[in-house]
Amino acid sequence: MRSLVFLALFVPAIFVPSIALAEAPNPQIDRLWRAKCSSCHGPDGKGATEQGKKMAVEDMTSPAWQAITDDKIKASVNDGLKREKGGVHQEMEAYKSKLRPEQVDGLVTYIRALKK
Ligand code: HEC
Repeated sequence: MRSLVFLALFVPAIFVPSIALAEAPNPQIDRLWRAKCSSCHGPDGKGATEQGKKMAVEDMTSPAWQAITDDKIKASVNDGLKREKGGVHQEMEAYKSKLRPEQVDGLVTYIRALKK
């Protein structure tokens, strides 16, 4: 039992730093996010920006939001979206012609890493 407690407490402490390193965001995608996405979604993905609040942008860090599929993320980024939600007009431009497919893939990974 005691060794289990030891494992539970100390093993994560040893491994967490290396995991954190492995998940450090790709600097190019990080720049892309800050330049093209963060004005609405916020640097942290919470949507707590002036624009984000106006359009009731959702909190991408929440586990409920993260239930979205990778394909849906890509489709919305590529094709943009325009919808009414609870009387709020939500609009995002289509990025297909502005981003390469590998940049969109990078953004999916980036968005996944925002999860709480
Ligand atoms: C002009 C503001 C604005 C910008 C800039 C913007 N978005 Fe959005 N985005 C929105 C709005 C509004 C929504 C719809 C509300 C929501 O789902 O939070 C949305 C929704 C999304 C969704 C969820 C789509 C869905 O199907 O529910 C994803 C993923 C997303 N944006 C990614 C991005 C990425 C990646 C970028 C940068 C390349 C970006 N957005 C830039 C406004 C913006």
